[in-house]
Amino acid sequence: MTLVALEEVTKSVLLADDSRLEILRGITLEVSAGDHVSIVGRSGSGKSTLLNILGMLDAPTTGSVAFEGRPVRRMRSGKLDRLRGDNVGFVFQQFNLLPGRTALENVMMPLGHARGRLFWQRRAVAADMLERVGLGHRIDQVADRLSGGEQQRVAIARALVRRPVLILADEPTGALDIDTGASVMALLDEVATETDSALVTITHDLHVAARARRHYRLDAGQLSPADLSRAFEASTLSESVPETVA
Ligand SMILES: Nc1ncnc2c1ncn2[C@@H]1O[C@H](COP(=O)(O)OP(=O)(O)OP(=O)(O)O)[C@@H](O)[C@H]1O
Ligand SMILES: [Mg+2]
Repeated sequence: MTLVALEEVTKSVLLADDSRLEILRGITLEVSAGDHVSIVGRSGSGKSTLLNILGMLDAPTTGSVAFEGRPVRRMRSGKLDRLRGDNVGFVFQQFNLLPGRTALENVMMPLGHARGRLFWQRRAVAADMLERVGLGHRIDQVADRLSGGEQQRVAIARALVRRPVLILADEPTGALDIDTGASVMALLDEVATETDSALVTITHDLHVAARARRHYRLDAGQLSPADLSRAFEASTLSESVPETVA
């Protein structure tokens, strides 16, 4: 089943000098339940912009976005907020945690609008998810006193806690060491598989990208299939090239 479908999506913004910056130029992409998609691309190529449109946080300039077959453009904002809250889990590039709140409070936040056990047992559910990202001992620490990698893991726990059908992760291992990054990616995979969710991962790390089943590259606002085996080759041929894809 197709969860989210973008058709010929463009995004442009008007700059202060009255010129137009074309960030996305005609993107067509379908993401289905159980899919695992990776997107690589240079800094500034439009990856976060694309993820925000996939997650219905931002609207395209032209083109269409449909969630489970329903066009998003005409939905009232309250309905759209509910649709997003019920279905989408974001791991933001800048984490976007509430600074004065504890790790536990941050992870409980999305459960405030959930139903059933997820709502009534939200404290235990959130604590359990923090345990799974290796932060069981830090649940009462306020977010701004956590290290960057710990904040990233709180952000991941918050994205997963409501069992969203669409998980959107923007550089989810960017602040993590290799081992912690690998275990966090394993957790994202595991949770996505448990709930047959779709996982879209933006990353600069080839190993992270390789975990996905479909690989894309975003270049100057256009999406094309990426050949990771060639990228791996290029990264091992030259010592000076780190294992990242520009
Ligand atoms: N609202 C906006 N107004 C002006 N420029 C914008 C706006 N949103 C994005 N941009 C510009 O569009 C380009 C793409 O931004 P985006 O954040 O999507 O890139 P990215 O691929 O996620 O980069 P990075 O890898 O550095 O996170 C950037 O040059 C950015 O400055
Ligand atoms: Mg970005």
